[in-house]
Amino acid sequence: MEFAVEVKDLCKTFSSGWFRKRKKEALKGIDLIVPVGAMWGILGPNGAGKTTLLSILSNLLTPEQGEVRILGLDFRTNGNEIRKRINLSSGHANFLWSMSVQENLKYYAMLYGLSGKSLNSKIETVMDMFSLKDFARVRFEELSTGTKQKLSLAKALINEPELLFLDEPTVGLDPDVTNRIRDIIKYLHQEKKITILITTHNMKEAEFLCEEVAFIINGSIKAKGSPQDLKEKLHLGDTILIDFKGLIPAAALKAMDGIYDIQIHNSSCKITVDNHRKRLAQILEFFTTQNIMMSHIHIKESDLEDVFISFTR
Ligand SMILES: Nc1ncnc2c1ncn2[C@@H]1O[C@H](COP(=O)(O)OP(=O)(O)OP(=O)(O)O)[C@@H](O)[C@H]1O
Ligand SMILES: [Mg+2]
Repeated sequence: MEFAVEVKDLCKTFSSGWFRKRKKEALKGIDLIVPVGAMWGILGPNGAGKTTLLSILSNLLTPEQGEVRILGLDFRTNGNEIRKRINLSSGHANFLWSMSVQENLKYYAMLYGLSGKSLNSKIETVMDMFSLKDFARVRFEELSTGTKQKLSLAKALINEPELLFLDEPTVGLDPDVTNRIRDIIKYLHQEKKITILITTHNMKEAEFLCEEVAFIINGSIKAKGSPQDLKEKLHLGDTILIDFKGLIPAAALKAMDGIYDIQIHNSSCKITVDNHRKRLAQILEFFTTQNIMMSHIHIKESDLEDVFISFTR
């Protein structure tokens, strides 16, 4: 098995309303292939179709069109087998509100067929991993948002999935918990070799965690690739800001390799380059040979946030 997820021409339309039916095409022909062992991000604005896609891949929603293979198996005919080997954690999870953390985890462990010692040791392990032991006897309804999210992640590991879908796992968490959750996600991928597909609105998180990302806009995949590939494809480049004294021969500077754009305002020059690591030395040499005094240099690398803004504008 080479691919954890294979999706072809996937479409999903929601119908709502009793008298006047309203239709919403949430997914419009998605093609996606995710290799086993990957850690990929599904990014896009609100309402783009990310949760709908993850819900279909985790067998919670049925699409009206398209082929889906999960871990090499057709999802229409092998639902039970697939469900044993995957799991989903949502940042907006709902559990049985009157049951405690431990009882909820026990409930899910039993659904996966665990019992006795193996059930207890699994629950211990996942509670340990997400520092949930102090909350073991606290009812779900009494938990804070962050602890609910940790419970959702703990639940998602109870069947030791090979493939894990994470829908905004760090939404609403404080920076310290967010960092710890990200480290655990990285550990699950790198050490436990779990294939992970994650949605997030935090581009720093996507850049930290994901080898590749797919941008969904309005139900279609607009672009796929590593964050670096996407930055280059969009010609976003890096920005070098130089405060100077003197006269800049702008045409000669612009003619140099790798320079996308130059803007000069009074004594400040903003140069957009393909890659600052490749171009900074030659730019500084140019300024020196032209006898231009430089008083301040500031570099800003483009990031996935710039890619997101370019795609969604
Ligand atoms: N049960 C439903 N009935 C009707 N429309 C729905 C339903 N679920 C989702 N939609 C619509 O489908 C589209 C995609 O929704 P989805 O929740 O997949 O977006 P998303 O990318 O996850 O957004 P967000 O970033 O806000 O979580 C939206 O327009 C949404 O309103
Ligand atoms: Mg969503």
